[in-house]
Amino acid sequence: MIDTAGKSILFDPFISSNPLAKGVDVTSICPDYMLISHGHGDHIEDALQIAKQSNCMVVGVYEITSWLQKQGVSKTHGMNIGGKWNFDFGSIKLTPALHSSTLPDGSCGGNPAGFLVENDTDNFYYSGDTGLFSDMALIGKNKNLKTAFLPIGDNYTMGVEDALEASKYLGVKHITAMHYDTFDTIRVDHSKCTEMFDKAGMKLEFMKVGSQIQL
Ligand code: NI
Repeated sequence: MIDTAGKSILFDPFISSNPLAKGVDVTSICPDYMLISHGHGDHIEDALQIAKQSNCMVVGVYEITSWLQKQGVSKTHGMNIGGKWNFDFGSIKLTPALHSSTLPDGSCGGNPAGFLVENDTDNFYYSGDTGLFSDMALIGKNKNLKTAFLPIGDNYTMGVEDALEASKYLGVKHITAMHYDTFDTIRVDHSKCTEMFDKAGMKLEFMKVGSQIQL
């Protein structure tokens, strides 16, 4: 969850069956916006409940928002890759992601996506699940991003070496790690990863569940 320009934006809620999020009360989560990058269960699991209890605006690729509409979510804004829209806290642009996107019931989730979020005070890139691609250089071009949320767990997404390469393409110095440790196949050595980024003059942030940072 990110707070910017007076609004809270929640990304890809995976809480109920997440072994690392035990004790987090889903019923207390009420964002203003919810952004869903793709249809996999470990990104959309709690989206329906949170959308219904908070009446937040859900943003994502058209196939994802249409699917949520069918499940009874009323406020959605469907987009597609390369498109940008101005919301009341700033703009969201959908970026490509190298991944897949099947929804929990087997429906097609369209193309997986990432998000570039910008307003007068903040800007950041949330890549979603993705492998490395050199067009990340275009996403970060002339942006001086405050942070980039990048997967580092390998196997299903890029690993830490490629995340370091991605950070160079993006021209970003602060990276918030995602998509690691939840499953056996994506466990990482935190100190090794941190050191790798330190050596390159960047900071890799490992956030603890329930903690906050200010950028
Ligand atoms: Ni995924």
